[in-house]
Amino acid sequence: MKKDTLLTHAGRDPGKYQGMVNTPVFRTSTVIFPTLEEYETRSGDDYKSVRYGRYGTPTTFALEEAVAKLEGGHAAVAVPSGLAAIAAAISAFVKSGDHLLVADSVYAPTRNFCERRIRPNGVAVEYYDPLIGAGIQQLIKPNTKAIYCEAPGSLTFEMQDIPAIAQAAHGQGLPVLADNTWGTPYFFHSFAKGVDVSIHSATKYIVGHADVMMGIIVTGEKHWLPVRRTVADYGYSVSPEDCYLALRGLRTIGVRLKQQMENALKVAQWLKSRPEVKRVLYPALESDPGHRIWKRDFEGAAALFSFVLNPVGDQAVTAFVNALQLFAIGSSWGGYESLVVVADIEKHRTATKWNPGGPTIRLHIGLEDPDDLIADLEQAFGKMGEA
Ligand SMILES: Cc1ncc(COP(=O)(O)O)c(C=O)c1O
Repeated sequence: MKKDTLLTHAGRDPGKYQGMVNTPVFRTSTVIFPTLEEYETRSGDDYKSVRYGRYGTPTTFALEEAVAKLEGGHAAVAVPSGLAAIAAAISAFVKSGDHLLVADSVYAPTRNFCERRIRPNGVAVEYYDPLIGAGIQQLIKPNTKAIYCEAPGSLTFEMQDIPAIAQAAHGQGLPVLADNTWGTPYFFHSFAKGVDVSIHSATKYIVGHADVMMGIIVTGEKHWLPVRRTVADYGYSVSPEDCYLALRGLRTIGVRLKQQMENALKVAQWLKSRPEVKRVLYPALESDPGHRIWKRDFEGAAALFSFVLNPVGDQAVTAFVNALQLFAIGSSWGGYESLVVVADIEKHRTATKWNPGGPTIRLHIGLEDPDDLIADLEQAFGKMGEA
């Protein structure tokens, strides 16, 4: 099946639910069994069936199956947030005495997790230049246990060469873990590109409507049990209502993403032409240094990018952001609405320097008419000039 057909049909079985198009919301904590034998069999079936609310219900399984199929992985597990997915995926692979390689451009809370939870437990965390590609080979040590990527980084949009990193990692028997929130299971088929464990903040495009927090980890067959067991050991559990909403969101991820990408490209091209703007950081633009890899590996781009202003003072940046009417100030992205944040990047780098030469602003482009968004940015540039 092509991906849009999969998106419509995966993870549902009307024949099982009296003809209902969508898998209904199943609420439960306890699941009861007719015999002790069945209780024991299902408890040992590696999380494949319903046995206790914490391990998922048919609603959870429907969502997990749809995401895993869409991305081309073996199986998926839903967890309470994207950061919970990051924490569980990393914890599944490292213990005291191990070495972990992490891209210097990672989402800041991933770095916090590594610094505050992983390093103090005896893991040597080493950050690497996200543009390193095959050069990662030189950083692999005998005790390296995993390589963590994020392509592209969600503030600087530096594109990583995942196939080259995966080739080096797999040569040493190491798994590649990747935050694929920007790529989404729709635009980046991570398993075909060498990723072994794909991490999503489902809060973003999968849910798509800014109303549910959720993470999803998808793995290949080899890494499924270690990851699933780690999630079980942490006691993570997601509500069936949230799974229902996430699966409902997923059904339209294709049309939303294609439209939002078109809108984002229009806004990004316009920004490029503005005298206030030094650079636009968006791999979908031909002028972006990551464009070649993006074009080779991705089937589309999320509507999230940054732009660097020519040097201006903090007051002017504040005036610009406060003047925006259609772009709301707020964390997160991936919903149907446009958002803006000022990116504070330098303090999160240790392996490489990030000095773009001006303040960096990140935009998420929603489903509004892009001409209205451009007009909003234009009037805000006017306020910036006055400030
Ligand atoms: C790239 C990326 N990964 C992970 C997360 C964390 O997801 P959540 O907010 O669902 O915990 C975010 C959230 O902004 C993100 O931008």
